[in-house]
Amino acid sequence: MKRKELIQKVAVYPGSFDPVTYGHIDIVQRGRKIFDKIIVSILHNPAKKALFTVEERLEMLRESMKDLDGIEFDTFDGLLVDYVQNKGAQAVLRGMRAVSDFEHEFQLALMNRKLNRNIETIFLMTGMRWFFTSSSIIKEAALFGGDISDMVPPNVYERVKDKYNHLKR
Ligand code: PNS
Repeated sequence: MKRKELIQKVAVYPGSFDPVTYGHIDIVQRGRKIFDKIIVSILHNPAKKALFTVEERLEMLRESMKDLDGIEFDTFDGLLVDYVQNKGAQAVLRGMRAVSDFEHEFQLALMNRKLNRNIETIFLMTGMRWFFTSSSIIKEAALFGGDISDMVPPNVYERVKDKYNHLKR
């Protein structure tokens, strides 16, 4: 009798995660209903000015999702599709918020598809609750003293506060 080979469905969830928000965590949790494993991976991008170092962002991701299983954390540089292939994953997972995300995401997905037709991009609509949140808007609100405590996990909230206090000193 032929044994059916068990193939793990793996997706890479790439991003800047500067810092991770509840919106990102929601995508990972929902993505796990579709994929056996999700590799959350931070792009090393010297061209983009970040508030947190890659190591700090990795720590925050790990702390924020320590209770979830089937999640791996990593960093990458170079082309996303090459990284996805090297990791043995079949898909890229991305969250889509409003219409404003569409153009960029569409371009990214089509370019990735042109570069490697074996990798598919799967979009999940961001949960209604997190529709207006983004790492950038959260950082801006926090910089000017806005309360972001219900948009990021407590560990991230503390780190953002510390970072801005430190920078203001
Ligand atoms: O969180 P972000 O900043 O929207 O994430 C963007 C990211 C990391 C997904 C994207 O910039 C990326 O994949 N960069 C790696 C280089 C690459 O492969 N670009 C797309 C084809 S040119």
